[in-house]
Amino acid sequence: MVKKVGILTAGGDCPGLNAVIRGAVKTALYNGVEVYGFLEGYQGLLKNNYIKLGLNEVSGIIHKGGTILKSNNGTNCFAVPEVNEKGEKVFVDKSEEVAEMLKKDGFDCLIVVGGDGSLKSGRDFMLRGVNVIGVPKTIDNDVPFTDVTFGYNTAVDVATEAIDRLRTTAESHGRIMVLEVMGRYAGWIALSAAIAGGADNCLIPEIPYDLNKVIEKINKRSETGRNYSIIVVAEGAKPKEGSISIREVEGNAENAGLDSVKLGGAGEYVAKQIEKLTGLTTRSTTLGYIQRGGNTCAYDRILSTKFGSYAMQLCIEEKFGRMVTVLNGKLQSISLNEVAGTNTTIGAKSSNLKLVDLNGDLVQTARRIGICLGD
Ligand code: F6P
Repeated sequence: MVKKVGILTAGGDCPGLNAVIRGAVKTALYNGVEVYGFLEGYQGLLKNNYIKLGLNEVSGIIHKGGTILKSNNGTNCFAVPEVNEKGEKVFVDKSEEVAEMLKKDGFDCLIVVGGDGSLKSGRDFMLRGVNVIGVPKTIDNDVPFTDVTFGYNTAVDVATEAIDRLRTTAESHGRIMVLEVMGRYAGWIALSAAIAGGADNCLIPEIPYDLNKVIEKINKRSETGRNYSIIVVAEGAKPKEGSISIREVEGNAENAGLDSVKLGGAGEYVAKQIEKLTGLTTRSTTLGYIQRGGNTCAYDRILSTKFGSYAMQLCIEEKFGRMVTVLNGKLQSISLNEVAGTNTTIGAKSSNLKLVDLNGDLVQTARRIGICLGD
């Protein structure tokens, strides 16, 4: 019988993490199961650093962004940087030690709340004999085998409000406004916010863009008297004949097996090019971490509570090695192996991303209502 469960939140923080923790803890306590939270994601596992979670710890947190357990997106237990006796930097696989520690401390299961990379690590711990349940987290909505991840709808709300705000100033000055939003290599946030905010153009990574198409759209609008335009640019968008905009490559050696590429600058690039090619006053805004912080929207509070409580239910029923998911609108679970997909190398980062479907509802809707996607 499951008596003691650990939970950790890994990767970039995201609205809804606290609601997941709360849902899991409440479900555990009402079933006589003890829950412990590992601090700072996988760092907590490495350092065996955890706290007991009771009703007091999860009280009054359902709405709050961030995570009471803190997070960390720079730790890979399968490749921990160390300096060897020759003074060289080497990467050591600490996963066996961690698995041993979890066993020694009596953990029956570990709930990993994370994005594609963190869930991949969860699956790899499973291969080390740890009972794992995964919960898909990310504002980017790019985890496969779930209709939606929590945090995404909050990010879309924030980006939509930003478009609303940009519109009034764009209209007043007759300017072109570019808004860069997050999403890594997927255009979910950009496209949803563009539709919800009534943007005229939206550039996403899945459709390499031709700026001439965007300029055509801007010109058509001004021919009909609308001399301002809103262009939403996903941070991972790239021109047809160009490459993705990279802000920096972080740490490299320190981040073995982790995604060390930091995107940024795609919006600024589009704005500069448009101003250069048209002479129209163009301004660029990068929404950045505002999309990730602050209060969680009602949709994500509900989804996170479903995910957290169901993850604990799966632990109690000893249905390990699963990721909770919503598929075709129904709360269910899927094998973590399937989520990790073709990437079977233990410790390597995941490459199994869910991109925007070019034949899906969002793209088709955008096209039907005349949003230019740069193609
Ligand atoms: O994965 C969520 C996300 O917010 C991405 O959209 C963004 O590219 C990335 O994290 C940046 O986060 P950090 O600076 O924490 O790596």
